Amino acid sequence: MTDAVILPAEAPASLSAHPLDPAGPEEFLAGRRILAEAGLLTETTRFAYYGLEEPPKDDVLAYSAGPADGTGTGVPDGTGTGAPVSANGGPGSRPDRRLRAFLIDVVTGESSDVVVSLTRHEVITNRALDPLTDGRVPILDQDFALAEEIVHADPGWCAAMARRGLTDVGVIRACPLTAGSYGIADEQPRRMVRVLAFVQAREHDLAWAHPVDGVAAYVDLIERRVFKLIDELDLPVPRESGDYDDPAVRGPLRTGLRPIEITQPDGPSFTLDGHWLQWQGWSLRIGFDAREGLTLHQISLDDQGRRRPVIYRASIPEMVVPYGDPAPTRYWQNYFDSGEYLVGKWANSLERGCDCLGEIAYLDVTVADDNGQPRTISNAVCIHEEDFGILWKHTDIFNGSAQSRRQRRLVISFFSTVGNYDYGFYWYFYLDGTIECEVKLTGVLFTSAYPGDGFAHATQIAPGLGAPGHQHLFSARLDMMIDGRANAVEEVDTHGLPAGPGNPHGNALAQTVTRLHRESQGGRRVAPDRGRVWRVISTEHANRFGQPVGFTLYPEAAPTLLAAPGSSLYRRAVFATNHLWVTRYDPAHRYPAGDFVNQHPGGAGIPRFIAGDRDIDGADVVLWHTFGPAHFPRPEDWPVMPVSRCGFTLKPTGFFDRNPTLGVPPAGPHCEPGERAAAGGSDQ
Ligand code: CO
Repeated sequence: MTDAVILPAEAPASLSAHPLDPAGPEEFLAGRRILAEAGLLTETTRFAYYGLEEPPKDDVLAYSAGPADGTGTGVPDGTGTGAPVSANGGPGSRPDRRLRAFLIDVVTGESSDVVVSLTRHEVITNRALDPLTDGRVPILDQDFALAEEIVHADPGWCAAMARRGLTDVGVIRACPLTAGSYGIADEQPRRMVRVLAFVQAREHDLAWAHPVDGVAAYVDLIERRVFKLIDELDLPVPRESGDYDDPAVRGPLRTGLRPIEITQPDGPSFTLDGHWLQWQGWSLRIGFDAREGLTLHQISLDDQGRRRPVIYRASIPEMVVPYGDPAPTRYWQNYFDSGEYLVGKWANSLERGCDCLGEIAYLDVTVADDNGQPRTISNAVCIHEEDFGILWKHTDIFNGSAQSRRQRRLVISFFSTVGNYDYGFYWYFYLDGTIECEVKLTGVLFTSAYPGDGFAHATQIAPGLGAPGHQHLFSARLDMMIDGRANAVEEVDTHGLPAGPGNPHGNALAQTVTRLHRESQGGRRVAPDRGRVWRVISTEHANRFGQPVGFTLYPEAAPTLLAAPGSSLYRRAVFATNHLWVTRYDPAHRYPAGDFVNQHPGGAGIPRFIAGDRDIDGADVVLWHTFGPAHFPRPEDWPVMPVSRCGFTLKPTGFFDRNPTLGVPPAGPHCEPGERAAAGGSDQ
């Protein structure tokens, strides 16, 4: 940490926060007092979600354009105006500071969606949820312990365990798994979870290695009882230990790995002022939310003194992990980790030298517990710089010039543990204007008992232990703002042309550009054999060739949702059935599977957003990009998975008039032209 460039994240009380700064501990408490004074909190009220209700974009942009933007910097905020603000007619007024809470009474099950204004000290909206049509609030922290307590006390469940030789329920761990929505009369009216069990015989045992398969308890969290027990098949509980900390399991530690030290003697090249981050022309605000985790705001690039907006807001607001084992005790396994469990709430505290290497700046984040009390997670967001190999390099055969430049990236990341899985969310910003999002998937596989050779839906990963095939489908919400709000999206395919007139030798290749005019056209799929990409362009600003300035989204090639059309999951995860959706900005359109995903019957989110089939050409557009692997586990993924990666890339395309990195200096004096070894000398 370099004190000279990193200012404290918490502004003094006299300086109010920027409207996009995440809610802080005092704000959570202040909002809680307003709710209590309004009579909305009883002994049995719990907070299933509590976070900043961001002001609408219009208000933020008007505010950011003002001279006193509250950061004390007086610097315009990536609005693209770049102009001295007084020219815009004076300061934008400070938007109302609001928090949103999902409240549930854990005795009656009644739940509500409440917005409070800290500025006006009042409840703004208070909407009671109808769980049958609205869906239900997310899983509470207390549901983990409660689910285990309930099954441990259930005679039927204990008998099912005893039949399998498990008489000491104290060693059986229970997972409260979200239930989905299958139109079953005895399930619909209940706030429920489905519980699978794992044996943890020793305190440090890895329970996931010992699934008790064939038994699923369906638990009503309001009545606090098992209302249905599925006890379908008897497979032995796999015995082999998965405790990868145990020398008997992992073997001796490797030797020969000598230290790698990353040092920046003069400190990192970025500056962090509160939540405002600047690096090599990039400027952005860092936000954090219990549901979405990292949110990045007002991402812009400085282009020769002109501040040019690129993305107004970027986040991963949803992900679903559907499992592909059709067994009666497993068909419902599909977890919406963001909407049902809240990915941000489970953020890890990161440790320098272990989780992140180099000159690190950390941000603490604050989330709320079940009682709406703030809980600070220290070192949750990691910010650092990385060398990234060659940026550009050329040895000219005619003029003898031998040059190379090194690429760097600014990394902003956090890690979240959701049950058995651990997800690292990484955003990278490069010197040449490239933006990348990468998710690192690690942790422990969700396991089952392996029924025997030839079983189609799982991989055997240890004797008698299976890991069902599944998908991880993330949705990135990219609220684009290429040089302003008037943007459009083009689908660009690259392909060959048939031999014939104009192409007598059959070598011609060309691009086909399809403009997307309406939301009904915005559902798109990748086409790797046509190099398909999507380009977001400004409909108002052109480069020196008269072409619209833009950024291109490069997707990876992985399947979309594989669940059958018409299935419950398909209806609930419509967002995951295409790689891309394009919608017109609406401040209410935040979550691609809807606001209340837990036990939602389906049809919320994307299908609603596009129902009006609005014009998206020359509009304020939002991209929703689905990415992530279909994961049929390998034996090498057990007992803890080496990281696998997925993500996407955004690259400037005609945004600049030429390579914007010609001004990047050589890495050191010995890299200067004339100082290098003979042309063709080594560079790694
Ligand atoms: Co996986």
